[in-house]
Amino acid sequence: MAIDFKQDILAPVAQDFAEMDTFINEGITSKVALVMAVSKHVVEAGGKRMRPIMCLLAAKACGAEDLAQQRKLAAIIEMLHTATLVHDDVVDESGLRRGRPTANATWNNQTAVLVGDFLISRSFDLLVDLNNMMLLKDFSTGTCEIAEGEVLQLQAQHQPDTNEQTYLDIIHGKTSRLFELATEGAAILTGTPEYREPLRKFAGHFGNAFQIIDDILDYTSDAETLGKNIGDDLMEGKPTLPLISALQLTTGEHHQIIRKSIATGGTAQLDQVIDIVQQSGALDYCRKRATEETEAALAALMALPDTQYRQALSNLAQLALHRIQ
Ligand code: IPE
Ligand code: IPE
Ligand code: MG
Ligand code: MG
Repeated sequence: MAIDFKQDILAPVAQDFAEMDTFINEGITSKVALVMAVSKHVVEAGGKRMRPIMCLLAAKACGAEDLAQQRKLAAIIEMLHTATLVHDDVVDESGLRRGRPTANATWNNQTAVLVGDFLISRSFDLLVDLNNMMLLKDFSTGTCEIAEGEVLQLQAQHQPDTNEQTYLDIIHGKTSRLFELATEGAAILTGTPEYREPLRKFAGHFGNAFQIIDDILDYTSDAETLGKNIGDDLMEGKPTLPLISALQLTTGEHHQIIRKSIATGGTAQLDQVIDIVQQSGALDYCRKRATEETEAALAALMALPDTQYRQALSNLAQLALHRIQ
């Protein structure tokens, strides 16, 4: 039976999820009107809110009853995520996010960078209020690693020799690390450190699968469905897994076209590259890797008690594997 997002994932934390949203809106409040306008522009556009949902479910899966603290943490995580998107769209020169023009396109790069900085600073401001040094340390270290992941990606840009291991290092930093913080943070706040390790493994593998799917969608989806433009990765000469595996699976002319596209960037050859990526079996390989990562995530979850919350986390990972947006 198909997994239903509301019923099979959100339902056990629906109330906490709704309350969490008020914290996000409070969090982005600023006495400087432009700061608020830019933050609101991105936050109001929505997004899937996957990281905060994971945080709330993980807390419940650890046995937490009252989620007063964890709701705040979930809001902080979504704010950090929003900040990374605002910065990422500057770096990637992206024009569309969550179905809206990006902050950099609506205002400019300077504004987007500075408001992104504000969102990160405010997140830590709110984190301090949770009064938990272990949590604060975990988030400080983790946030550094997220920034390192984005820089590592910048270095790999236009490098056709980037291998799968380097790609995994990049996506672990830029994407999976925040998923790890969301779930590990829940375990820390709940006072169940014994569940940190299994939750970190679950979220790390989940994040890898999620980013691999995102990288597939950049070649197979459309702006309407995705809420962001496709072809952005090729435009930027990003050696993501679809291209890394296409290089492994091709020789001759096709191989050279992919190499050259990574080296030069641009979308002049987008249609041709999409054809090669599809024909070569590269997408099948990517889907296989995403499935393996999801299976590793689900296996790690088994160390937690068997509850409806653990089941909801498992449902989320399975739904994400088949997502189209
Ligand atoms: C986008 O994350 C960045 C990636 C890690 C691919 P999401 O796909 O979770 O973005 P929103 O929050 O739903 O817009
Ligand atoms: C994910 O990288 C961005 C972050 C984790 C900050 P991408 O550049 O692939 O994400 P999209 O496609 O812009 O959402
Ligand atoms: Mg991007
Ligand atoms: Mg992408």
